[in-house]
Amino acid sequence: MENLFSIKDRVIIVTGSAQGIGLTYARGLAGQGAKLALCDRQADKLAAAQAEVAAAGAEVMAAPVDVTSPEQVQGFVAQTVARFGRIDALVNNAGVLLRRTPEEMTADEWDFIQDVNVRGTFLFAQAVGREMIKRREGAIVNIASIASRQALSLRLGYCTSKAAVEHFTRTLAYEWGRYNIRVNAIAPGYIKSDMNADLRANPAVYDKMVSEVPLGRFGEADDLLGTMVFLCSPAAAYVSGQTIYVDGGKTTQ
Ligand SMILES: NC(=O)c1ccc[n+]([C@@H]2O[C@H](COP(=O)([O-])OP(=O)(O)OC[C@H]3O[C@@H](n4cnc5c(N)ncnc54)[C@H](OP(=O)(O)O)[C@@H]3O)[C@@H](O)[C@H]2O)c1
Repeated sequence: MENLFSIKDRVIIVTGSAQGIGLTYARGLAGQGAKLALCDRQADKLAAAQAEVAAAGAEVMAAPVDVTSPEQVQGFVAQTVARFGRIDALVNNAGVLLRRTPEEMTADEWDFIQDVNVRGTFLFAQAVGREMIKRREGAIVNIASIASRQALSLRLGYCTSKAAVEHFTRTLAYEWGRYNIRVNAIAPGYIKSDMNADLRANPAVYDKMVSEVPLGRFGEADDLLGTMVFLCSPAAAYVSGQTIYVDGGKTTQ
């Protein structure tokens, strides 16, 4: 049983890992002995994240990548394989949110959300999957959301994109099970991050959000780590196509 949840020496890519929940995944996975390949849009923020994770003792590489660019994504995957020899897991975390009324959202804003959240998820899964197919092994963890299942105000584009991520996860698991590639997703609930800092700063909004959560509190990014380690580990060897809601019970309602 001791090694059931071990991810020691596993090579894991985390996208959007210069800050927020992605950086927490990077810290947490590194803390369990994984080797990390980090990428994000902004080189300076990313360098700081890399330095922090490396200072904690992990083997970690990093390079700026826009997840919507096939060339940049493929280049980063090639760099990761050149550095570590293989990729055991991908955490498809990069994501964006715009709050707009449906009647005011522009076509460009709509495309921006779908491009990062859906196209980016596909491009990274495809590039990493091609490597995993060669080895007949791998785990992909996409990041969905309670918005995959629930309607949230002012988030039509975001909810649509995250619903797509959940079904993408199911469908890719169906396609790549034959290669022993497991594809799952984590659907976080309300988790403290820059994405919702403005909402949390408003006491009335904050209290209403917390009141919707049966466990009675906002989530911390650390609350997602146990599920992430599990999905990357041998303990999840027969788990594929699933979206695990880590939301304090929010989607019970
Ligand atoms: N916070 C929550 O309550 C919550 C709940 C459910 C799901 N999620 C999901 O969890 C993930 C992380 O969210 P978060 O709260 O940590 O958000 P965040 O603090 O905004 O972090 C997202 C990161 O992704 C990067 N990114 C955005 N577009 C990118 C692109 N085209 N290429 C590469 N990197 C890009 C961002 O870089 P820039 O700063 O340059 O934009 C940022 O560093 C997202 O998929 C989000 O949808 C969050």
